[in-house]
Formats: sequence, C-alpha cells, structure tokens
Amino acid sequence: MQRWNGKSLKIGELVAETPIVQGGMGIGISLSGLASAVANEGGIGVISAAGIGMDEPDFGTDYISANNRALRKIIRKARELTNGIIGVNIMVAARNFDELAKSAIEEGIDIIFAGAGLPLNLPSLKDASSKTKLIPIISSVRALKVITKKWIDKYNYIPDGFVLEGPMAGGHLGFSNDQVEDAEFSLEKLIVPVVEELRNMEKTLGRKIPLIAGGGVYSGEDIKRILDLGADGVQMGTRFVATHECDADIKFKEMYINAEESDIQLIKSPVGLPGRAVHNDFIDQVKQGSRTPAKCPYHCIVTCKREQSEYCIALALINAYKGKLQNGFSFAGANAWRVDRIMSVKELVDSLESEYIAALQK
Ligand SMILES: Cc1cc2nc3c(=O)[nH]c(=O)nc-3n(C[C@H](O)[C@H](O)[C@H](O)COP(=O)(O)O)c2cc1C
Repeated sequence: MQRWNGKSLKIGELVAETPIVQGGMGIGISLSGLASAVANEGGIGVISAAGIGMDEPDFGTDYISANNRALRKIIRKARELTNGIIGVNIMVAARNFDELAKSAIEEGIDIIFAGAGLPLNLPSLKDASSKTKLIPIISSVRALKVITKKWIDKYNYIPDGFVLEGPMAGGHLGFSNDQVEDAEFSLEKLIVPVVEELRNMEKTLGRKIPLIAGGGVYSGEDIKRILDLGADGVQMGTRFVATHECDADIKFKEMYINAEESDIQLIKSPVGLPGRAVHNDFIDQVKQGSRTPAKCPYHCIVTCKREQSEYCIALALINAYKGKLQNGFSFAGANAWRVDRIMSVKELVDSLESEYIAALQK
C-alpha cells in the first residue's frame, strides 16, 4: 500500500513519500542522526547549519573554516546513513551564510532551506549544473512576493518551493510578540493568501511551486488540516526533538517532557527576533540582568546586538544541546508541553500517518 494514502511531497524531481519536512533545529539539535532517521522514514531530513562547527578545534579562531568543514562532514555522515532526501537549514542572518550555502551545494545537498531573513542572493551561489533545490522560509505573502520577484528578475530562477512558518513554531520567530498573540496571524489564516499567490504564480510561470507549512503542527489530524488548506507538505520541529535519534543531549529532550504549558514562553533573543523556549533559571537570570556582560566569541549573526546583549545566544544554545541547561535554554514550539515521552522517529512517523489516515476517514 502507498504511504500516506499516496499524498507524497514533490519538489522538482525529488519525491518524499511522507509529506513531512523535519525543520532544521540549531544549534546541534538536528544533525546527521535525526535528519537521516527522518529521511529513512520517507520524509525530508534537515541538518541545521547553525553553529555546526562547535566541536572543531578552530571554532573559536577560524569560525568560517570550522563551520564549513563540519557541515561537509555531517552531510557526508547523513548520506552514509540514508539514501533518502537530506536538506540543510541555513540562517540568512548568519555571517557565513554564503560560505555554508556554497559548501552544501558542493556536497550535493538535495535542498537548502533558508530562513531568518530574505535569502535574496541565494541563486547566485549555485551554478546551473547543480541539482540543489532552493527553498526560502517565509512568514508572510509579502516575503514570498519580494523573494520571487528578485530571484526571477535578477537570476531568472523560480523558487523550488516555500516553507511558511507560523507563530507557534519553536526557535526564532518571524513575528512580533503582539502578532504571536493575535489570531489574525495563525498559520491557518496566513496560509490562505500564500496559497492563492502561489496558484497565481504557477499559472504565469507554468510550474508547480510546492508549499510546506509549519509551526504548531502536532498530530496527523493537524497535518490533514494544513494539507486541506492547500499546502503540499508540513514542516515539524518540536515533535522530532523528543525522539531517540534527535542529536541533542537527553537533558534537552527531558525539558520538553517535564514542561507544563505555562513553561513555554517567548524570550527576547540578542539577534533581534523573539524566540520561543522552555522557561528555566537561565532565562530568569537573563531577565534579571545577572548574566551581563555577555562575551561574544563568534559574532555569528549579523543582526546580533552583541554590545547590548545580555548573553551570547550561540553559547547558550551550544550549552543546551550538550545538556548544560544551567548555562543555556531549550528552544521549543508552542506545543512542546504536550510531549510526554521519547520515541523513535519510525514510531512517531507511523503514528502520525495512522492519525492522518483516520482523519481522512472522518
Ligand atoms: C529547538 C529548535 C531549534 C530551532 N532552530 C531553528 C533554526 O536553527 N533555523 C530555523 O530556520 N528554524 C529553527 N527552528 C524552527 C523549526 O525548524 C520548525 O520550523 C518549527 O519549530 C516548526 O514548528 P513546531 O516546532 O511547532 O513543529 C527551531 C525549532 C526548535 C524547536
């Protein structure tokens, strides 16, 4: 029998039998372990390039080389573990965005997902012979229009797809605190004009542009609801954190399992965007000002206000990945408190598929 009742996600010649993209999660949360496990279940596994060189000896002295080298190693490791589809998530605001994108393309990565900014120059980083697909992550129809216009006018390049991320996602958010609380900005509402715009563009351009939507997608029923609204696939992050294969330390995963709903909070990130995280003592100390002054070893994010910053976000996230939560915190989606146990990626994807099929029959 076909998986997912035949509802595969097609991106050019790539076909994911499971219409789920595992959202890239930095720092270190989605590396080769998680990405390959998701790809082996027919989904799209995504390596996060954020701070990926953290275990290289020259991470503090030659940031660019350390990250490029680690990214190449981790892509190769993922390829050894799966024949499925593997992507890389790169933050546009990263100081080394261009270098990371070029390295991933040279390694033959299937897809680059580029968020946290508008990836206006991304097509210029790949040559015509490369099969790598380029997919921006957006939060509005406006961003969709700006990127498409620029890519077509300047590079004659039609985007290979878009990820639309709503305000219930984890990590840095493309919304203000007010918008996060505003029902007008729910994923279900945001998706409608984006689908409409894509359908219009497809008519003019004569090519399908797939849409992947995420942020708060938790169950198979949620997946059906989002696909019914016109998305071709979903992006999910939070659910994949609580899996055996997730690359983070067990203490990071336990933050989700032990969290109450009230523990999932918005925080102010030094990079100038709100973020969503599981509340802990470190976050309180930052609010009280007892973590200043921050030291900035890497200057990793162009928009980071490092002189005024209460802490270094890279160090905090590396600590969290390693389970040192007294000196860091776990990013998490709005539904992270609903997670009550750790399972395998196979068990998770199978249960989502069963829920999806059951929802189809309702
Ligand atoms: C721990 C964590 C880290 C994340 N890091 C990134 C990141 O580095 N880049 C990015 O584009 N999105 C990041 N995200 C967002 C996810 O890729 C995903 O799109 C989002 O969490 C989807 O919502 P969900 O968690 O409710 O499924 C992160 C999310 C989490 C939970």
